[in-house]
Formats: sequence, structure tokens, C-alpha cells
Amino acid sequence: MNQETDRNKDIDEKLQGEATIIKSTMKPNGRKLYVESYGCAMNFSDSEVVASIMTKKGYTTTGNIDEADIVLINTCSIRENAEDRVRKRLTNFKNRKKRQPDLIVGILGCMAERLKTKLLEEEKLVDLVAGPDAYRDLPGLIDEVGTGQKAVNVLLSRDETYADISPIRLDKSGITGFVSITRGCDNMCSFCVVPFTRGRERSRDPQTIYNECDELFKNGYREVTLLGQNVDSYRWNMTSKGEIKDDTKPTTNFAQLMGSVAIISPDLRIRFSTSHPKDMSDEVLETIAKHDNICNSIHLPIQSGNTEVLKRMNRGYSREWYLDRIAAIHRIIPGCAITTDIITGFCDETEDEHRDTMTILKEVKWDFAYMYKYSERPKTLAERRFEDNVTEEVKSARLTEIIDLQRNNSAKKNLKQIGKVHKVLIEGPSKRSDIHMSGRNDHNTKVVFPMKNSKKGNYVLVKITDCTTATLLGEIIEIIDPAK
Ligand code: SAH
Ligand code: SF4
Ligand code: F3S
Repeated sequence: MNQETDRNKDIDEKLQGEATIIKSTMKPNGRKLYVESYGCAMNFSDSEVVASIMTKKGYTTTGNIDEADIVLINTCSIRENAEDRVRKRLTNFKNRKKRQPDLIVGILGCMAERLKTKLLEEEKLVDLVAGPDAYRDLPGLIDEVGTGQKAVNVLLSRDETYADISPIRLDKSGITGFVSITRGCDNMCSFCVVPFTRGRERSRDPQTIYNECDELFKNGYREVTLLGQNVDSYRWNMTSKGEIKDDTKPTTNFAQLMGSVAIISPDLRIRFSTSHPKDMSDEVLETIAKHDNICNSIHLPIQSGNTEVLKRMNRGYSREWYLDRIAAIHRIIPGCAITTDIITGFCDETEDEHRDTMTILKEVKWDFAYMYKYSERPKTLAERRFEDNVTEEVKSARLTEIIDLQRNNSAKKNLKQIGKVHKVLIEGPSKRSDIHMSGRNDHNTKVVFPMKNSKKGNYVLVKITDCTTATLLGEIIEIIDPAK
């Protein structure tokens, strides 16, 4: 069963393989690079770092795979089906190589880190393997391909944040951009492969984050999304020389970082992902409330509504704690949109435990949720400690129940918007129609409307007239010039 949501697909369609031709300041070496990304926003953001590293060495990026000399696939390991999808793609490339023997195919990202040399040595599907902390080494690895050496670097780092690299934007909207603020994760949720594929958590120098956001704004971008596996654990306690000041007192925490980025311009929208229920502080919520341009939209994955399951998942909070954080959001940011992630059919999950997820869905009424069947991942705590003993049939049935209930919640929320006016940042023409524009409101819901004389990058006031489960439809009532 395909569990991908409309919104997941949106991100995929917008960004997948959207490498554009980049002019390098370096003399071009005549070799063209095509990058294709799968998985979370962090991977899409990393692909932009990769494009930057490669263009500095004279490579040109292309959006047309047929003219590429080098294809790099940035991969995801989060669930088994994410890896299956990449394997299929790599098999396609194997066939292509029969026609184009000097084509170099490389694998990057989480699957590269997890499988290390396997795809190169045993399955012979790729020529090159680079883990998430090894991208500076890519030009060297490409040189090694063909010399008979194994072009592999899967070393994880304690301090690599690519802080000094100015990413080359691969998505063509030119309006919204991702900015990484942390890498890795120290949480060890028992189901999750990320700590193994991305390594230890580290925060990026706040000055470089500010500079990157400021640069984006100056280049016409109107929205930045600050990215980390757990943005709330962002902490910077270094001097500018890289010395640790005082480990117990961060000089910059996430609330302060977000506050500093928010003052770049009132016309630059700030989003962030992902918040962690155990670490999301009232100070963060107060910072969101204080700045009009920090979007009132929080992605707060719950995973399960049952405290015992949460314990087995090693999530570090209970059902009650999660509900306390929801109450804090409502108290400090009234009307804030809240979205979540849910895993169904985790090890030993009983029918009663599943019911607790159903009841919390009714109680919290999230605006939107990503919902998944548990997929056992090698080496994780859950794989070592528990049995993946909920049958496929039960997982599917529970997932369907959850999806039906959540769809209903989302539809009701959208219906309530009819007649209301929303401020929307236009990202570009709608995919389905030449005469419509598409953008997002403060709550991160997609809004589609006839373009009139609006342009991408405009903020517009849109009166909502209709909706589908995932999209609001409306009419522009005012174009707000962002330059004013
Ligand atoms: N750092 C984020 C999540 C990153 S992974 C956080 O802590 O919330 C995105 C989502 O994938 C998770 O929230 C979880 O719902 C889902 N996921 C992770 N591992 C999974 C697994 N083994 N099986 C099914 N879903 C999983
Ligand atoms: Fe995975 Fe948990 Fe880290 Fe999220 S917080 S990336 S779910 S280990
Ligand atoms: Fe996937 Fe790695 Fe992101 S496993 S979800 S690409 S951190």
C-alpha cells in the first residue's frame, strides 16, 4: 500500500531531479552532473551542498539526466520501501550503463551510509559511495573511479556541518529554501535508523545560518525552513574561534537562533522542522508568538498515543506530556496549526494501545498527519530488543483506521476556512492549470487561486471559496507588494 500523502508527493514532485544549469565561477571541466534526491528535506538540502562542492571543481549541473556524465542519487533508509524504490532506480541505471559505459553512478545519503560498500562490491550497482559527512570528498572520489580504487567514503564526523558552503539552490521556485541548522541525531528512538546513518548531533554556527538566510532573502527568496532532526536541541556554545565557551550554558539556543533570523526582514517567512515533544520549550513558542513572520505551524510527531508504546519507542515523553505541549501551543499561539507523524503496528502493539492512538487523534485533531506502518530497520534498538510481531494485515487495518479518522479531521479543518481570508506567499504557477497560482498560507496549507496580475514571490490576500482534503481554493482580494 502506498502510504505517501499528497503533501509528501508535492515535495517530491517539486524537487526531485530538479537540478538546473548552474554557472560555475570556475572554468567548466566539461562534465555534467545530475543529482536526484529521495527522503526528507535534509537530503534535498544536502544535495544543494553537493551541487556547490561539485561546481566549485568545474562540474556543471543539469536537469536533464540524458546529458549527464555523472549521476548521484541521494538516498533514504527510513523504511524498507524507501530503499526498495532506490534499488529499482539503480537497476535502471545499470541498464543505462550498458549503453553509456563511462557514465559514473554514485550513491549518497543514508542508504550509502547504512550499506557502505555493499552496493558497490556485492551488488555492483554503483561506482561510488559517499555518506552524509563525506561530500567534500566527492570530487576526489570521482577521480578515483576508473583508477581501480574503491571510491568509498562513509566516515561519519563529530563536527562536519558544511557551515562554510553556500548551497546551490536546485529547486526552481526561487522563493522557498531549506537551511540546515543541525546534523545527525542523538535521540536513539528505538525504531529509527537515522542516528546510524547520520551520526551524532551537531549544531551549525549561528552566524553562518543567519548569513545564508540573509543571502537567500537578498536573492529574492521569501521563505526559509530551518532544518534539523530535532530543532529544539539546537545549541551553540562556541566562540567564533571554535572554542567551547561553557558547555552548560548555550550562547545560542533554538529560540534565540530563530529570533535572530526573524529580524532579517518582515517579508521573510520562517518555518522550521522537526520539533520534538520532549524538548520543545515555552521559550520557543513565545518566540513564534512574538514574530509575525515566524509561521504559526508546528510539526510535532507523536508516533503513538500510548505511553507504554512510547516507552518501547524510547521517545522520552508520555501521552500526558505530549498533551501538555499541545495545551502550551494553544495557550501561547492561539490558532497555531499542528501536524504530526504516526507509526502504527510497532512491536507488541496491542489493540488497546492502538485505540489510544485513535483517541488522541480525536482529542488533538491535528491539521495534517504523515502516517506509516512500522518497518523494522537493521541495527536499531527495536530490531535488537523486540519482535516485529504485528502482522502485515493488522498493520494495514490499523493504518487504514488512522488514515480515515485523520482525513476526516483534515477535511473538517479545511471546510472551516471557507469564507476566511488567508495571507499566501505565491510559489509559482499551479501544476494543474496555466491560469492558476499556487502558494502556502501561514499554516503551511497549499492554496490555489486564479493568478490575476500576481507574480511568484508576491504575498497576496486570498478569500477561500472551496477546498479539497489537502488544498484550499480561493480568489485574490489584494496583492501585497513585498517590497513595501
Ligand atoms: N526526527 C524526526 C523524524 C524523522 S523520520 C522526529 O523525531 O520526529 C520521519 C518519520 O518517519 C518519523 O517521525 C516516523 O514517524 C517515521 N519513521 C521513522 N522510522 C520509521 C520506521 N522504522 N518505520 C516506520 N516509520 C518510521
Ligand atoms: Fe529518529 Fe528519533 Fe532522531 Fe527523529 S528524534 S531522527 S525519530 S532518532
Ligand atoms: Fe531518510 Fe535519512 Fe532523512 S533515512 S528521512 S533521508 S535522515
